[in-house]
Amino acid sequence: MNLPYRKHVLICIGPRCGNERNSNRVRQEFRKEFVRQNMMTGIKETPCVCFGLCSYGPNVIVYPDGVVYSGVRPQDVAQIVRDHLGSGRPVERLLFKKKEEPPQTCAEAIPSVPDGVAPPAGGPAPVDSDGDGQSGDS
Ligand code: FES
Repeated sequence: MNLPYRKHVLICIGPRCGNERNSNRVRQEFRKEFVRQNMMTGIKETPCVCFGLCSYGPNVIVYPDGVVYSGVRPQDVAQIVRDHLGSGRPVERLLFKKKEEPPQTCAEAIPSVPDGVAPPAGGPAPVDSDGDGQSGDS
């Protein structure tokens, strides 16, 4: 990996994290903490729009570590900066954890399998993409 920073902090400011849960305050707090904790070099923060984890937000991802934080509040930021960015110890209590199974996709919920054909084991049903009663394009 050729990341030009020691750490890159991606902060979701998408519709759910930003508008509903005010992640802009989280972003402002990161900027303040970088100054307070004298970490102005080697660390970059970037606002991003939606990681696809909306129901868990506000979400923050730290690279190159690939660590995802969820439900981050402004008062959590000092600990993330000190423990993770400063000392390399991710903040366990804020790590992203799946709270529920993801919703079914349309292909899984409405299988499009011709009569008499069993869906493949362990995978989604084939999709009749052209409406001819057979899966695939033909
Ligand atoms: S709006 Fe933040 S993950 Fe979707």
